[in-house]
Amino acid sequence: MAFPADRPRRLRTSRAVRDLVAETTLRPRQLVLPLFVREAATEPVPIASMPGVVQHTRDSLRKAVADAARAGVGGVMLFAVPATKDAVGSAALDPEGVLTVAIRDVVAEAGDALVVMSDVCLDEFTDHGHCGVLDERGEVDNDATLEQYAQMAVVHAEAGVAMVGPSGMMDGQVGAVRSALDTAGHTDTSILAYSAKYASALYGPFREAVGSSLVGDRRTYQQDPANAREALREALLDVGEGADAVMVKPASGYLDLVPLLRAHVTVPVAAYCVSGEYSMVEAAAANGWIDRDRAVLELLTGIRRAGADIVLTYWATEFAPRLG
Ligand code: PBG
Repeated sequence: MAFPADRPRRLRTSRAVRDLVAETTLRPRQLVLPLFVREAATEPVPIASMPGVVQHTRDSLRKAVADAARAGVGGVMLFAVPATKDAVGSAALDPEGVLTVAIRDVVAEAGDALVVMSDVCLDEFTDHGHCGVLDERGEVDNDATLEQYAQMAVVHAEAGVAMVGPSGMMDGQVGAVRSALDTAGHTDTSILAYSAKYASALYGPFREAVGSSLVGDRRTYQQDPANAREALREALLDVGEGADAVMVKPASGYLDLVPLLRAHVTVPVAAYCVSGEYSMVEAAAANGWIDRDRAVLELLTGIRRAGADIVLTYWATEFAPRLG
């Protein structure tokens, strides 16, 4: 009988040896927590499709950020739910608007302990729900939108944000934001570019989270799930325009893009474990169909194993204390 000469199982025989040879680390500082703040809310508002996630009040947002910092989470990404919307998303540019006020609050609360990031996009602020302004035919007007993003980023930088996340998938958005920031003297404000953001059904729960008014889809600006080379093209363009880090989104289903980008850019690569990924696990766990804790750790570890330096996840604060 020929016994195997090499026995990979030897390195799996105990917890200690498994830990010793583990190739992938998952650390609290590598996690970024996305958070929602709702204008004029007096109580945190639960998001039905994302059990455990809420639209925060100003106060509960500060507390959530303090909790994240205490857990060692590396950053927070802020999204807003404004009280008023219009065709051009004016509230997004208001220095006293909900997102800007939230940035100031959060920077004061924990700006030294973690990286405060903000979403630079119009979809929460437009009454049609698109990520940009529309032209007379009702199509998203790329270049007119760039001007809005540029101003929005400067307003956020003035409020003290460390990193802005342009997420609208407009061509040239990183360059427009970079040059506006620099012109306004914010050369130290960095850009986390949503480079490879796909037109995904997995954003469904997020749209409830931000009270999106979108009718239709975002297929004329977000990427086609069938394409990978295009993600590399987007990421290289973003780096050329001044991105300090690039992102793949969603994470599940798109993990092949993480090593692709990792191999071709020298900036950090982030991946966003989006609302639908969160909700799928939570729903299955609530039904007793899946071991929640193991599933979450497995998903997040998989994103790191694929090569992501930074992982955006709604589970950040809860799971950070459990990471080695
Ligand atoms: C757009 C934006 C979206 C998400 C983050 N930024 C939604 C969209 O493109 O429709 C989705 C995040 C998630 O699903 O968790 N500002």
